[in-house]
Amino acid sequence: MNFHATTAEVDLGALAFNYQQLRQLIPPSVKFLAVVKADAYGHGAIAVSRKLEELGTDFLGVASVPEGIELRQAGLDKPILILSGIYPEEVEEVLSHHLTPMVYRLDIAEALAAAARQRRTTIPIHIKVDTGMGRIGLLPEDTPAFVQRLQAFENLQIEGIASHLSTADEENPSFAEEQLKRFSRTIEEIKKVGITPRFYHVANSAALVNLSAANGTLVRPGIMLYGSYPAASLKPKIALRRVMSWKSRIADVKKVPAGNPISYGRTFVTQSTSLLAAIPVGYADGYSRLLSNRGEVLIKGKRAPVVGRVCMDWTMADVTAIPAVAAGDEVVLMGSQLGQEITAEEIGGWVGTISYEILCSVGRRVQRIYKG
Ligand SMILES: Cc1ncc(COP(=O)(O)O)c(C=O)c1O
Repeated sequence: MNFHATTAEVDLGALAFNYQQLRQLIPPSVKFLAVVKADAYGHGAIAVSRKLEELGTDFLGVASVPEGIELRQAGLDKPILILSGIYPEEVEEVLSHHLTPMVYRLDIAEALAAAARQRRTTIPIHIKVDTGMGRIGLLPEDTPAFVQRLQAFENLQIEGIASHLSTADEENPSFAEEQLKRFSRTIEEIKKVGITPRFYHVANSAALVNLSAANGTLVRPGIMLYGSYPAASLKPKIALRRVMSWKSRIADVKKVPAGNPISYGRTFVTQSTSLLAAIPVGYADGYSRLLSNRGEVLIKGKRAPVVGRVCMDWTMADVTAIPAVAAGDEVVLMGSQLGQEITAEEIGGWVGTISYEILCSVGRRVQRIYKG
């Protein structure tokens, strides 16, 4: 028997709903790249990508070549864009697995062109422009010359040009709009040197909802596919369904007297006779140690506070106020139970981070269960 007490249920029906919600925001002529990097934000890249291919996504987007290879080996056959770009050592694998790299370094472009020439093939690439994210990509002013140099490489096909927004989730659109302007100008400049890529793309989830001017000919949402909002201000603008529910089962319930210390470091001491539930989830599962004495879990539709330090494999919750709690009862760490809900955003708030990090952190030891 393969029993797992702590699981992450992944609702592929909710994923389909979110996909349709996002698809509706763009005209049919605009293509859709589903971002499935980081194991599909913790949801399981293979199962999620299979569903997205079935739903009709045009592209899949991953961060790295190994993530792309994992999908190819699982039989996914839509174009896969490597969002972060590649290293020279990865050129052969990019070609043999038909991956599409983002390119912003001349040496990489040269290596790709040489390998493609040797194989008597052409490789599609997307050029990355840094319009204000300050991360990877060519500066706008360097892009036309770069593109012009690439024209010498017959085996490279500039299929796309992309940029990334740093503030699309903020209510003040001014910097995002400035980035869009820089991006449009760059596209105009490269047209002047004779290149008109089929795809130009910049829209992440927030831009898709907030800035229709960002659509381009391809959009690249991630977080909203998984039912989470990059900012609370986006919630009234689009209905989404949570895809992941993170659950566990109480291993033991124990009545302890007042003055009883709980967990490492004795950071919590019971004030009165208390009922404590031991839950088999810890920071090795991605349940952050920062949730010590701070988080809450749902048991019988009620919120129970996490008491004491979260351990590698265990978390304790005070269930004194919840009637009839017993070993084996369901614990919802993230998700809903009898009308109560804990979201990834709320957990992020408790530990000073964003829902993205909460979702991506759900560990390998947590069994993913797919439904829908
Ligand atoms: C280059 C790129 N495009 C698109 C996305 C998707 O962003 P989001 O998950 O905010 O929709 C990401 C995610 O960080 C990214 O790095």
